[in-house]
Amino acid sequence: MKKAKSREPNAESLNPLKSKTILLGVSGGIAAYKACDLASMLRRAGAEVHAVLTANAREFVTPLSLKTITRNAVHCEQFSGDGEWRPEHIDLAQKADLVLIAPATADLIARLACGICDDLLTTMILASRAQVMVAPAMNPRMLEHPATQHNLSVLQNRYRYEIIPPEVGEVACGDFGAGKMASLETIMATVGARLLSHRTLAGREILVTAGGTREPIDPVRFIGNRSSGKMGIAMADAAYARGAEVTLISTVEVDRPYPVLLVETAQDMQEAVETEFDNCQALVMTAAVADFRPLAVSEHKIKKTESEDLLLELTKNPDILDLLGRVKRKDQIIIGFAAESEALLTNATDKLRRKNLDVIVANDITVPDIGFGSDDNAVIILNEDGSRENLPRMPKRAIAEHLCDLLAERFAALEKPKSKVPN
Ligand code: C5P
Repeated sequence: MKKAKSREPNAESLNPLKSKTILLGVSGGIAAYKACDLASMLRRAGAEVHAVLTANAREFVTPLSLKTITRNAVHCEQFSGDGEWRPEHIDLAQKADLVLIAPATADLIARLACGICDDLLTTMILASRAQVMVAPAMNPRMLEHPATQHNLSVLQNRYRYEIIPPEVGEVACGDFGAGKMASLETIMATVGARLLSHRTLAGREILVTAGGTREPIDPVRFIGNRSSGKMGIAMADAAYARGAEVTLISTVEVDRPYPVLLVETAQDMQEAVETEFDNCQALVMTAAVADFRPLAVSEHKIKKTESEDLLLELTKNPDILDLLGRVKRKDQIIIGFAAESEALLTNATDKLRRKNLDVIVANDITVPDIGFGSDDNAVIILNEDGSRENLPRMPKRAIAEHLCDLLAERFAALEKPKSKVPN
């Protein structure tokens, strides 16, 4: 069996920050003093850095320091009468490749979660279409307060901002806990990774399924499975962040900026996937679809009877992937998933072939603490050409990023003109 090819590094993968315009938002916490070092690291890595300071940030760090370090004007005032008809900060917000807020205070996070733009920084963030990355820094009790947690969740889940988690340690006021701004090295690495994956799926139509189907027995009960939908949602989020036109067909309700079609049963899911499939360039079938459903659904709640047993007659559900594998066009890519409790590679390879998939993502469900319901998983990615890649335990979002890389490579290969065979 062939091993996965290692990716050739290119200029961008060596230095993803080169010539990128980064808007560095600095808000008023003590960690603002680190913004100077961060600006310097970003600039030395090749980025064009434009710092924007809130009024409170100016209590900790001066515009002059950041102007000297970034070699660019520092922006502070929303209403500066510099004579230009079009404010420079709107141009800047629009041309930025990335907005990085470091440090982000609880107050700034709260204002962003509400869409308030009462100063220059919040106005620029709202006026920008660039990916926003947020590095919170605050007292541990402020971070764990439900209001801050809720606001962070809104930024992350609703607006797709990337949160660079704060670290545990002693914070400036002497308290100990989570709240220290992530290290500058972590911030630099996260920014680099984000810029690398930037819009590599722009305009691609990607259909993702997520969650476990529920097959009703009666109006109250159903046959379900342990799938949480986290992998499929992570996949849809990652593809969307790279510019794809995502449609998510899910059994789990989520609030997202892309279309989410809510379904319950395998038959609902089949109908939705079949309707959308023609218009998609890739289908990522993450959902755990029930193989069987009750043959008859009782109209009324089934009552307890004298008998000790209740016999449920089940009938087979359609295998959605199998059906679509048969009709898929040459320009479509299908990725399936195989959750196995034995003979992982044999069973996954068999499914890959039988269902005519391009890729199958196999995971061993007997490994404790990962997989169903967890934020992490460990998987093997098997390609139809026999090559494979082992991904050790990592967050589902990181697995999704790998799958996005793989999709981007496959789309590029599909578009490469075939070399002419000489006569
Ligand atoms: O054969 P098995 O159910 O293990 O295959 C798993 C893969 O097939 C997953 O990608 C799942 O979404 C898909 N599947 C399907 N329709 C079914 C059962 C599974 O599309 N009825």
